[in-house]
Amino acid sequence: MLSLFRPFLFESSKPMMMTSTNNPKRRILFYSAKPYESAIFTQLNNQLPEAEQFKLTFIEAHLCETTVALAKGYDVVCAFVNDTLDRYVLTGLKEQGVQVIAMRCAGYNNVDVPVANALQLPIVRVPAYSPYAVAEHAVTLLLTLNRKIHKAYARVRDGNFSLDGLVGMDLHGKTVGIVGTGKIGAVFAGIMKGFGCKLLAFDPYKNPEVEALGATYVPLQELLNQSDVISLHCPLMESTHHLINSAMLKQLKRGVLIINTSRGGLVETQSVIEGLKQGVIGGLGLDVYEEEGPLFFEDLSCSVIQDDVFSRLLTFPNVVITGHQAFLTQEALSNIASTTLGNVQSVLANQPCNNTVTDF
Ligand code: NAI
Repeated sequence: MLSLFRPFLFESSKPMMMTSTNNPKRRILFYSAKPYESAIFTQLNNQLPEAEQFKLTFIEAHLCETTVALAKGYDVVCAFVNDTLDRYVLTGLKEQGVQVIAMRCAGYNNVDVPVANALQLPIVRVPAYSPYAVAEHAVTLLLTLNRKIHKAYARVRDGNFSLDGLVGMDLHGKTVGIVGTGKIGAVFAGIMKGFGCKLLAFDPYKNPEVEALGATYVPLQELLNQSDVISLHCPLMESTHHLINSAMLKQLKRGVLIINTSRGGLVETQSVIEGLKQGVIGGLGLDVYEEEGPLFFEDLSCSVIQDDVFSRLLTFPNVVITGHQAFLTQEALSNIASTTLGNVQSVLANQPCNNTVTDF
């Protein structure tokens, strides 16, 4: 357990805590931190005027009940998608004097926002850091699935140049259903328009940018009925939890390719496994998984995966999974870091911050 808390090593491999050197007054503790994050945060922090710089500490441990005590003495806690910010953790942070929680991501379904608001503990997030990064990754999953690149790559490396089983379809002329047409869904729509696809959309709020691309807003059922490809780009909320479920299976066009780069909870995994077995779902591309918490962002290549549902997904030839990496571009990381530091500066200075999360 202790090894979870070990600080990173600098590239020079000097064993030391990764902290900036100036202004020890305002301290930020980063939970679940990875080297690619500490590098960009440190770089951007060092570019701030000296008086505005923070003291940054990066730890690998997730934020949860057992690690909340590590935040003692910090002004700010910076958390990520698989950290737990429930009542216990939020109360613990508040009691220890933490003044701001900075989510370095867009989604905040892992934060009990009403509790944070009641505690007067501001939560800030990064609503948009690169819709292109995520939309392009959704397209990557789609193309990989459709043209079986994952199979072809392995075959060619193995000297197997057989094409059997590698038949895909032209995307040109196919119907693509986009669920959630906000920032990422709109970029995805634009790319698919470029492929010559027919666009259907479902969202409680129509996006004129997406309509201008020629997309038709239809009820969800019609989208499910007609789409050859469905890509999910809506947030995880009570109303969207298990949006793709066993009842929906009956409404899908046979052979549909489903892409989820949004949040794992949008898809009821057991149902899509059934859909894959029946051939109703022709392919599944996931960057997120409902129970990804214990798996993603870690090197488990020498461990036995205990999640049997996830393991079953891995057995399908027509399932491609990436480990929540859709956001991972240089541009996105840089935007995440600059927006997060800006959010924290605003809140600590009692200035208005547009990126504050509230439940009202
Ligand atoms: P956004 O807020 O710009 O757009 C979300 C859209 O979903 C809005 O237009 C909203 O009206 C719509 N929506 C809400 N309820 C809906 C429902 N019941 N059915 C259909 N649409 C509904 O958010 P953005 O930036 O486009 O991000 C979308 C999601 O992508 C985020 O919520 C997050 O979960 C996910 N994401 C995943 C990343 C990854 O690395 N895999 C990185 C960043 C975001």
